[in-house]
Amino acid sequence: MCGIVAYIGGKDAAPILLEGLARLEYRGYDSAGVAVTGKTGGLKTVKRKGRVADLAAAVPGRFKGTTGIGHTRWATHGEPSDANSHPHLDGAGRFAVVHNGIIENAEELRAKLESEGVVFASDTDTEVLAHLVAAHAKDADELEDAVRGALARVVGTYGIAVLDAERPDRIVVARNGSPIVLGIGEKEMFAASDVAALVRYTRQVVHLDDGELATVRADGFSTFTQDARMTAKQPSTVDWEEASYDTAGHAHFLIKEISEQPSAVERTLSGRVDERFATAHLGGLNLDAREARAFQRVKILGCGSAYYSGELGAQLIEELARIPAHAEPASEFRYRNPVIEADTLYIAVSQSGETYDTLAAVQEIKRKGGRVLGVVNTVGSAIARECDGGVYLHAGPEISVASTKAFTSTAVAFALIALHFGRVHDLSPADGRRICAGLKALPGQIREILAQEEQIARLAAQYAQNAGMMFVGRVRGWPVAREGAQKLKEVSYVHAEAYPASELKHGPLALIGPELPTVAVVPDDELLEKNLTTLGEIRARHGRVLMVGHTAPDPKYAEDCILVPRNEPELDPILLGIPLQLLAYHAAVALERDVDKPRNLAKSVTVE
Ligand code: F6R
Repeated sequence: MCGIVAYIGGKDAAPILLEGLARLEYRGYDSAGVAVTGKTGGLKTVKRKGRVADLAAAVPGRFKGTTGIGHTRWATHGEPSDANSHPHLDGAGRFAVVHNGIIENAEELRAKLESEGVVFASDTDTEVLAHLVAAHAKDADELEDAVRGALARVVGTYGIAVLDAERPDRIVVARNGSPIVLGIGEKEMFAASDVAALVRYTRQVVHLDDGELATVRADGFSTFTQDARMTAKQPSTVDWEEASYDTAGHAHFLIKEISEQPSAVERTLSGRVDERFATAHLGGLNLDAREARAFQRVKILGCGSAYYSGELGAQLIEELARIPAHAEPASEFRYRNPVIEADTLYIAVSQSGETYDTLAAVQEIKRKGGRVLGVVNTVGSAIARECDGGVYLHAGPEISVASTKAFTSTAVAFALIALHFGRVHDLSPADGRRICAGLKALPGQIREILAQEEQIARLAAQYAQNAGMMFVGRVRGWPVAREGAQKLKEVSYVHAEAYPASELKHGPLALIGPELPTVAVVPDDELLEKNLTTLGEIRARHGRVLMVGHTAPDPKYAEDCILVPRNEPELDPILLGIPLQLLAYHAAVALERDVDKPRNLAKSVTVE
């Protein structure tokens, strides 16, 4: 997905912009560019299809300027090419614009501008913005007014940064549906679409809200709305370490993040498990016990893996709190004119906190008067700010496109929520203590699973040779199977399909044979016998089975098996998912895939 970096201060902007763009590479992109200006005036621009390293090599030594903007592009309008790369300039080369998002009325605006004699140099929607800023600058005293004028004509989503060669003392940025964060330095300021680009330089940040613009100068910033009303912003401190943005000796971010899960889970649990009263403390929920008791239902919303972790969450809430709970893809929910109920608690799940579909679902719930909490990793993100309260994961930044540690930490956060709700309902102190002890055991047990990496890598290399794989699980194992299939397909491109084990004989059993192996998630719970019967049915059709569970099965049920330590039955799914992450990772490595940046995918999907 596209990335933005901007700098203004006393230093040469280009090296800072290039470093920032390199930090955003993980989001996925196909081209990159930078533009700088300075007191000597004029605008210098270099942009290229390809990697940030190619761009850096193309930037000449005399590319001087202390004010600049940079961009990594992920093609939407127009193919990846030098011409379509950002920044885009107006006809006179005075203004440079970088943009994340989509301008929906770009065609219409383009036709209008062309009829006025404007000549376009690219196929992008963004270039329209550069020409619009130039058009509005004719009647505007300030760059800010020209940008506001241009944005007033635009329908769509954007995070933008605008440079004016005649006003090198400022950069104007704006946000509507696509994140922009300001970074506050010593006599220098930064802006970016992601704090990843800033943490090397500053920890003091300001998140813009939708509909907000900012003028950024070397010595400070001011923020205002689209109708020119000033807004007041409080800086916040980013607590993520710069080291999180390095692979730290690992071959990929993905395996680094899988390996970080014991400490990520420790942070999610930290200070929240109350063994004395056998409950969980979650001050950020902003719900007292009476309010927590009043909800009759819980609806969980998220996209992709966040949705699957929500399914684990719904299961935990039903089991521990006995409140009916259900997860639904936020991307579907928002489009079906959902009925919002006053006695339903809505919970939005998002690692990035910027997923547009999830944000839109939260906004729809709030428009209709519903109460919505967030389970979010990124502090200060749009979804976190939009929600009425919630739980931060504290899993640390997740760089690899495929979610692993955030998925696991989300499941753990849901276990805390379920424990808390359970104890304000009818969960006994004894059961509460059992869950507290189970939660505390998780980090050590995850370490035990990670220690089996070599064996799992061997199995992955074998299973990766198949064109496809089936993943099955029942009840507690079903969301785990879904996430396992998702992980495998997205990083290895091996086709993977997940089915509830109970549904197999209602159709997909027709697919089973020697060429389609099955990964079965089989905890030692009350459904063990039923699961083994299903595995027997698969084996009878010569399907190879890899079982992930607690007890080594008779070979008549599974040829291969990965054993995980037992926790409490309600918490077991959290552990059963970890070997499936390793399986997906090593399948991708065996197939020499672009592990951290799978084709066609982006880390955070800030467009519809
Ligand atoms: C899968 C994956 C995606 C995300 C989804 C939601 O590994 O990473 O499916 O889970 O795009 O992203 P967030 O959690 O940032 O809202």
